[in-house]
Amino acid sequence: MDNQPIGIFDSGVGGLSVLQHIHQLLPHENILYVADSGHAPYGCKDESYIEQRSRVITEHLLAQGVKVIVIACNTATASIIEKFRQQYGIPFIGVEPGIKPAIAITKNNNIGVMATSGTLSSDRYNELSQRFSRDVTVYSQSCPGLADQVEAGLLDTPETIHLLEKYLSPLLVRQVDTIVLGCTHYSFLRDQIQLIINDEIQLVDTSRAIAQQLIRVLEKEALLKTSDRGLIHYYTTGAIDKTQTTMRCLLKKDVMVKYLP
Ligand code: DGL
Repeated sequence: MDNQPIGIFDSGVGGLSVLQHIHQLLPHENILYVADSGHAPYGCKDESYIEQRSRVITEHLLAQGVKVIVIACNTATASIIEKFRQQYGIPFIGVEPGIKPAIAITKNNNIGVMATSGTLSSDRYNELSQRFSRDVTVYSQSCPGLADQVEAGLLDTPETIHLLEKYLSPLLVRQVDTIVLGCTHYSFLRDQIQLIINDEIQLVDTSRAIAQQLIRVLEKEALLKTSDRGLIHYYTTGAIDKTQTTMRCLLKKDVMVKYLP
């Protein structure tokens, strides 16, 4: 079982930010990455659609014999992780906005969260943000269209910068000193965000913590693969050429993407 691959999926290419950390910390593991680019973005879709898409991908990954599934998408995690943990017999690791780590570093107790409207309107997010609201004020900012820009590999275009300025401005007005990147796509806009906000504002990205959590789960279940270099296979449900171009641009290396019908 420890030789079986790790399954990772996202609505598209955003989850590659999590995959990079997983591959860095667990170089022996084989990985199957599914970008549901043919159905992205998830952030503006209703929960039943996200559940249906996540189920199709989960069952595909299970048929490939994965030993664990990482839902590298805040929006899908918020909608379905609890249900899937009960329904399928393998561990699921999810991602959620890093409010807790943000609280550990904020000095003025004003935190901003950038995420999709699907994540921000979920019960899971509301519970998470309220759990800490006695100590800090959390300003939530939905960012429609931003994940699409990353999906298209358009990180530095005037339109992307304009969207970032539009979504960051309400947070800057509130004088947040910490901003949580609550969508895996936004990790790829870190440099562009940093140029707009002042240097003293800290960005919180939980991608590395997710990889560390995965190690703990694999160790506990005795599923760690500890020899031979791992292989990564990339799949997309969208257009191969487009996804491949974006993945190469984000990962800064040559990757081959296969089509998943
Ligand atoms: N990358 C996803 C997330 O972390 C979703 C982006 C989208 O498809 O809207 O929420």
